[in-house]
Amino acid sequence: MKLDYARYSERFGALTINSVQHVHELDSGNAEYHRSRTVAQISERELYDMYNRLAVVVPVKNERLKLLEGVISGIPHDCLVIVVSNSSRNPVDRYKLERDTLKHHVLLTDRDVILVHQKDPELAHVFEALNYPYILDGMMVRDGKGEGMLIGLLIAKMMGKEYIGFIDSDNYMPGAVNEYVKIYAAGMLISESPYTMVRIAWRYKPKVAQGEIYFAKWGRISEYTNKYLNMLISSHTGFETDVVKTGNAGEHAMSMRLAELLDYSSGFAIEPYELVYMMEEFGGVLESRHAEAMYEGVNVLQIESRNPHLHEEKGSSHIREMLRDSLASIYFSKLCTPSLKKQILKDLRRAGAIRSKDDMQSPLLMPSIKDVDINEFARLIKVRCSTLQYFGSNISTQMEAITT
Ligand code: GDP
Ligand code: CO
Repeated sequence: MKLDYARYSERFGALTINSVQHVHELDSGNAEYHRSRTVAQISERELYDMYNRLAVVVPVKNERLKLLEGVISGIPHDCLVIVVSNSSRNPVDRYKLERDTLKHHVLLTDRDVILVHQKDPELAHVFEALNYPYILDGMMVRDGKGEGMLIGLLIAKMMGKEYIGFIDSDNYMPGAVNEYVKIYAAGMLISESPYTMVRIAWRYKPKVAQGEIYFAKWGRISEYTNKYLNMLISSHTGFETDVVKTGNAGEHAMSMRLAELLDYSSGFAIEPYELVYMMEEFGGVLESRHAEAMYEGVNVLQIESRNPHLHEEKGSSHIREMLRDSLASIYFSKLCTPSLKKQILKDLRRAGAIRSKDDMQSPLLMPSIKDVDINEFARLIKVRCSTLQYFGSNISTQMEAITT
């Protein structure tokens, strides 16, 4: 793969946010690693080495099986796939259908796939036993994409993975999925910090309008989210910026060392909140709890995919809700100035996402998983959770080795 180095970057304390980088070749052969001043070349060999260290988490809630299966088929064979399902179990048990689909896929491919259901009652008990109640709602794990991702993160960590990437399960194009994972691996390889995040920027996000496909450059929500994330930066640096282009990137990856440090937001605010959290934590304005990351520096890469992003359209009430939650994660930040708050409220009111300030709710947060006893998590989830299923000969051996 050949891609640009970032043209410029915005520094905010120990946090570096790089401008969007473009892909020039999806496959640049096996020539030795070569760096010109402007273009990075990553050989297929290096990418494959990275895949073995990377887990890809796929959150799924009631998506069409064909889409889920297509997404999985696009993920490179050597990546561990972790599917976290929150699909309904009656009247039709969609989890079971997902399980059978994955099982069949592995029968044909013999790759490593792990599946678990978010609402497995025993999973809630595991979190209780490990003293991590933040993900619970009463006796169960809460609904939410962020919650699913956090479960996937813990499973990736327990399997000893050094990198973790996320891919939504409602993507229509397996080829795009394949590219995202390549980009994750390439981004990790060119980053110089052990604390790295790679976020995918869409080149196009096509929409069907009046019966024709229209290659829109931005999603509706991203426009607002990016604007306010950039304003959050400018309000503290004093310099206007438009560096942030991936505020709502569902497709993103992290080194485990970074992923285990972050606090996460519940539900759909999770992606913008990651940036807000990193600005708060590593921006140098507020006190940081992570001296080592402050010393090494935290690096955010934004890489533009060649493939367009085509996913399931979920309707305008979903969009309004997402917009409100995304901007709430900025609104309630300790870094958000009064004038920024005022503008956010104005935009949300105009978009019909809130009626008044009282509709704004501060996002539910799940603190860093760093102190969760990961060996105990592995042991408990294996013994207790019957929805934890794993397929593939490699992963089975690894799972057997977890002492119960
Ligand atoms: P959008 O693409 O940002 O509009 O959001 P989607 O509705 O497509 O959701 C993103 C991904 O998260 C999809 O793959 C969903 O199936 C999945 N998802 C949504 N809610 C949940 C949830 O509560 N738990 C899990 N595990 N996944 C979810
Ligand atoms: Co989607």
